[in-house]
Amino acid sequence: MQGYTYRNMNESTSSIRQVFNQLAAHYDTIFTNTDIGRMLRQRTHDLLNGMFTPGQTVLVLNCGTGEDVIHLARQGINVLASDNSEEMIKFAKIKVNQAGLNHMVEFRQINFDKLDYSLSSGETFDGIISNFGGINCSSDISQVVKNIADYLRPGGKLYLCIMGQFVPWEWLYLGVRGKYKRIYHRFRGSCIWRGQEIKYYSPAEIETYLSIHYRSTQCSGLGFLIPPSYAGKLFSKFPRVFYFLNWVEKHLETFFPIPLLSDHFVFKSIRK
Ligand SMILES: C[S@@+](CC[C@H](N)C(=O)[O-])C[C@H]1O[C@@H](n2cnc3c(N)ncnc32)[C@H](O)[C@@H]1O
Repeated sequence: MQGYTYRNMNESTSSIRQVFNQLAAHYDTIFTNTDIGRMLRQRTHDLLNGMFTPGQTVLVLNCGTGEDVIHLARQGINVLASDNSEEMIKFAKIKVNQAGLNHMVEFRQINFDKLDYSLSSGETFDGIISNFGGINCSSDISQVVKNIADYLRPGGKLYLCIMGQFVPWEWLYLGVRGKYKRIYHRFRGSCIWRGQEIKYYSPAEIETYLSIHYRSTQCSGLGFLIPPSYAGKLFSKFPRVFYFLNWVEKHLETFFPIPLLSDHFVFKSIRK
């Protein structure tokens, strides 16, 4: 989930599902296909690569328009692609179809706050992933982390990419524009976006929730040296600088304090 999505904080809609239904047709234009979006996505795919092997089955939570679904399916991994937004699923289906990967992917509308509504007990996966801050939309992320464990086989792998709370890039970028309220909201740990509460976390808080059911193997920061995607204009002025910063960040992504001070952080964990 990118900062861009949280700019219009005064608009009100009745549910997060409706918000993303409205956003679905534009999502790839405003995030996926931007320079920063592509750079960040590549970094997440670098982190995902090697987690799963061909023939395994992975549940993709909040799949959005299906970028990660396609990435996994291309590697011969079976995917249950899910999202709460039927419009997001619609666009993901089109892309999966265009990629000729229908045979690798099943789609299901799943609300990760109510996994037991849509997954049968005993249905287990080799892996579960959630990318780009989808689960920051949950009202109780600790419960989601706990519930996911029921659907992962022992030794199964969990990948969570979560929006962080402390982002110096944002302090700088928004600070010089006088947008102190937005900085404060993230710092405080939540904001109201289109009538919905979005929460931000520190890696330490998520690690506490994970430690009950998982062995945390790695936490990486994403967006410490490179700016959030809404700073796209800055990127297009100095592309080489940002490609270089991305290269540096990639090599330092697991070192403290980078995960703590990044736009997103990624936990890769193993089910106990
Ligand atoms: C910022 S997008 C990320 C999409 C995708 N993971 C990506 O990497 O581009 C957040 C996604 O989370 C989904 N989402 C939000 N709340 C959800 C919920 N309770 N259950 C399932 N999906 C949800 C939205 O519909 C949206 O597709």
